[in-house]
Amino acid sequence: MRRTDFHGGVAVITGAASGIGRGLAIHAGSLGMRVALADVSDAELAEVARYVAEAGGTPEVHHVDVRDYDQVDALAKTVFARWGQVDVLFNNAGIQVHGLSWEVPADLWRRVVDVNLMGVFHGVRAFIPRMIASGHHSHVVNTSSIAALGIFPFSTAYGATKHGNLALTEALALEIEATGIDVVASAVIPSAVDTAIFEHAIAVDTDGHGHEDNLAKRKIIGETGITPAAAAATIFEGASQGLLFIHTHPEDSREFWAERAEKVSTGIVDVRA
Ligand SMILES: NC(=O)c1ccc[n+]([C@@H]2O[C@H](COP(=O)([O-])OP(=O)(O)OC[C@H]3O[C@@H](n4cnc5c(N)ncnc54)[C@H](O)[C@@H]3O)[C@@H](O)[C@H]2O)c1
Repeated sequence: MRRTDFHGGVAVITGAASGIGRGLAIHAGSLGMRVALADVSDAELAEVARYVAEAGGTPEVHHVDVRDYDQVDALAKTVFARWGQVDVLFNNAGIQVHGLSWEVPADLWRRVVDVNLMGVFHGVRAFIPRMIASGHHSHVVNTSSIAALGIFPFSTAYGATKHGNLALTEALALEIEATGIDVVASAVIPSAVDTAIFEHAIAVDTDGHGHEDNLAKRKIIGETGITPAAAAATIFEGASQGLLFIHTHPEDSREFWAERAEKVSTGIVDVRA
């Protein structure tokens, strides 16, 4: 696999207003990239645009709700009309919800699916045909989670979407291989990154612990998480190498995956006879 040099290219980032997306945006700026910043948080987006420009990039701000295909399609149309190519699309926007599976309201569960899973599909559907038509070598980088390797109760909707998100990216990579298009797909598997994800998280508090649990997790990622800048550097490096799996914490990934593989394979041989 050839190494991609993203310097001076075009990056599109969803969820660019905060956390990992913000880190990716500033990193892209430092590579002198033209950067389309997409999010629903307008004030924060404007702030990130300033950081991208200060870092040496050319930012453009787009109010885009990834749940809505038409908005993502309009983003792709605008970016290709303006810049003619996309070197890397980061499908990064994501939300967390705490709650027992049987108590999370259906519309809230659907919102998690719409952002974390449909949002990624919308990016793939809107951008890949245009990447092919542009004839330019392109990357699609989808943010999954350590929650796609391990199983975490009380955030079941989140985990389900992140498993789906990972399956989507792996299958996408096989479709790319089968069709020979000039696109590389990568799945990002972050473990703890110090962002506001648990401040933004919604708590369904009928179990009495949702809000507290979000605060506790916020504290843990604040104390043990790597910075969004460090995560962004790892993600850019992995993408430029064309890695299918980009782990921010390879040791955590290995541990959760091994534990789960052990559980599943034990279940295959031991049918509780
Ligand atoms: N922080 C971590 O430890 C961690 C771990 C594993 C995975 N992740 C994943 O990393 C990604 C980024 O999360 P983060 O930690 O930076 O969180 P964050 O809350 O700081 O940032 C998420 C961004 O997504 C945006 N967003 C939410 N809904 C949107 C929508 N409908 N349309 C467009 N934008 C929307 C938010 O406005 C926010 O700016 C997410 O996919 C998350 O699941 C984070």
